[in-house]
Amino acid sequence: MRLRGKTALITGAARGIGRAFAAAYIREGARVAIADIDIARARTTATELGEAAIAVEMDVTRQDSIDRAVTETAEALGQIDILINNAAIFTAAPIAEIDRADYARVFDINVAGTLFTLQAVARHMIDRGIGGRIINMASQAGRRGEPLVAVYCASKAAVISLTQSAGLNLIKHGINVNAIAPGVVDGEHWDGVDAFFARYENKPLGQKKKEVGEAVPYGRMGRAEDLTGMAVFLASDEADYIVAQCYNVDGGQWMS
Ligand SMILES: NC(=O)c1ccc[n+]([C@@H]2O[C@H](COP(=O)([O-])OP(=O)(O)OC[C@H]3O[C@@H](n4cnc5c(N)ncnc54)[C@H](O)[C@@H]3O)[C@@H](O)[C@H]2O)c1
Repeated sequence: MRLRGKTALITGAARGIGRAFAAAYIREGARVAIADIDIARARTTATELGEAAIAVEMDVTRQDSIDRAVTETAEALGQIDILINNAAIFTAAPIAEIDRADYARVFDINVAGTLFTLQAVARHMIDRGIGGRIINMASQAGRRGEPLVAVYCASKAAVISLTQSAGLNLIKHGINVNAIAPGVVDGEHWDGVDAFFARYENKPLGQKKKEVGEAVPYGRMGRAEDLTGMAVFLASDEADYIVAQCYNVDGGQWMS
């Protein structure tokens, strides 16, 4: 058990990749706050994951909600050793059709949500002098632009940049900040992505998923469980000397 006795707050953990991270952390001995705007689903997930999980209501776009979720988690679990900034939304549109309100919503969740949750948890870790681990969810989409995905790609490029700055600033407090860049991971998120491409590329539903899966060097789309090894490693003692990095876990799609 590589995370025995540790506590983690994972945003957007009611479903998908965040849920898989929570399950993996619990298997490794941690207790986990399933923090999500969808509190009903977070409660169901926490119940399914057992006694080591608690559900916490959290909207990463609202400072009062971030602060409350951090306080609630620290009170329930004793302290927060690990944060995974996982909550995010996807959007797609040709440049000529990008909507300002949609842009603002994506940046509010994916970028400001990541920064200000990171800030709140980092303050908690600094105040208590406990150090810690922060893992931000970036994306292959943050490595290069895509013709229909300008806003989401830019938001994930910002997450990689924030990881670098926060990593460099916080390591003096014993807080390691790193990121994971997945490629294409099947699940409800990608059901939505597939629907965007069906609309803009005039494809039948399911076609884009099939194409992206075949394009992965490994030979298939990722599964949430493919990412858990890296998330456990980055939170473990073995990753103590790793600072401000972003790791591709994408079946060989991107090299950097
Ligand atoms: N699925 C992929 O192919 C893929 C690829 C690269 C990166 N990622 C990244 O991995 C992370 C997880 O992706 P996923 O596929 O599990 O997504 P998902 O859409 O399945 O889950 C996202 C979760 O975030 C929650 N959420 C949304 N807005 C929120 C808010 N304002 N406050 C708190 N919670 C909120 C949702 O309720 C949901 O439970 C995201 O950061 C995503 O950008 C995913």
